[in-house]
Amino acid sequence: MALPPSEAQQLVRQYKDSAAANILQGKPAEALADYRKVVELSPNDSAARLKVAELLAQLGQRQEAVREFHHLAIRYAAEGQTLHAIAACKLILALDPGHQETQENLASLIAMQDTEQGTEAAPLDKPAPTPLFSQLPREVFLALLGMLEVRRVPGGEPIITEGERGSSMFILVHGTVRVVHTPENSLPHTLAELSEGSFFGEMALISDTPRTATVIATRDCTLLEVTREMLTRLGTHFPSLEQVVHQFYKERLLDDLLRSNPLFQPLSDEQKRAISQRFQSRSVEPGTVLLQQGQRSNALYLLLRGRCFVVHQDPEGTERSYPDMTEGALFGEISLLLDLRVTATVRSATPCLLLVLDQETVKELVLPHPEVRRALTQLSRERLDRTAAMLAEGAEVQGSFLI
Ligand code: CMP
Repeated sequence: MALPPSEAQQLVRQYKDSAAANILQGKPAEALADYRKVVELSPNDSAARLKVAELLAQLGQRQEAVREFHHLAIRYAAEGQTLHAIAACKLILALDPGHQETQENLASLIAMQDTEQGTEAAPLDKPAPTPLFSQLPREVFLALLGMLEVRRVPGGEPIITEGERGSSMFILVHGTVRVVHTPENSLPHTLAELSEGSFFGEMALISDTPRTATVIATRDCTLLEVTREMLTRLGTHFPSLEQVVHQFYKERLLDDLLRSNPLFQPLSDEQKRAISQRFQSRSVEPGTVLLQQGQRSNALYLLLRGRCFVVHQDPEGTERSYPDMTEGALFGEISLLLDLRVTATVRSATPCLLLVLDQETVKELVLPHPEVRRALTQLSRERLDRTAAMLAEGAEVQGSFLI
């Protein structure tokens, strides 16, 4: 006899709690038994079915695991959750690479989406599987899904480590992750908590800099991995793919910029967006000269990641070091604001990621804002004072100043 709904719900909760405890204690067989009970009581609970499939795979019961993933793939496809369906199919193929039925399912799933979703290159109109995919033309979406690799990462483990080189980005199918950044000589802080449908890892991929943050699985995660080769290969056929990834990349850069330097905070959202469309990102290896003493700066530089040396050379050739520029530092503003030559050379000490705003953009979008203009002038003044104080011959500080 069926239980009253409230009683069934309570039991489901108890079994799920017990399963979670069993997983924590390293008892997958017991956890599997718990999740099976959950599925019995609540057959439409896809998350519990996924757990059953994953635990079966973990326990080496491949055939049964394949059956469960298969069931899930069909359910997801019926619900229009293509991304989940394809991840389930890919997991079956990882367990049994020759699984004929799944290969056919994957093909028909894609074909079904193809006919269902109408005209050529129309944006997807299903509930957005990811903010990335929702903006892609259908043909790009399908081509990409066919190539992706599935990865599973247990809760608590890092997926990406800040500072390392990376050659893939990830789409989160199941689970949650935390994006954490640790500035030099400072405590880690959380930049974002991302859930199903989000993607991450695009920054190192696009800018070819070390990873800008660590991304940790906060729950067991199923991910689709997109390598740089895939992105490049697809990008040549479908420029829209690169455009969409770039757009997200820029939005995150802007988010990082606003966190690391308060200068732009007073701008309205619209103004911030306008600026983000105009800045260029630049990544450099250690030892790259960014500003050269004696020249004029024609851009405003914002250091998002890394550290730079600042060195002044006096007429006798004696070099004098100024304090290093660290994350959040801004330079080039004195030359830009006051039209003076730069009296110090700025050179990257580590791999650096910078945002560069050209003179036109600064004049058009930044300086008209009184609060921002005031902050920039204040910064210039402080630096000029510091330079004057540091130079033994204070009188020399004329017409040419530090950055
Ligand atoms: P990448 O630098 O390759 O690796 C770390 C990832 O964290 C980065 O790409 C972004 O995908 C993600 N990330 C960085 N900053 C933010 C942010 N402010 N909000 C959300 N995600 C971010």
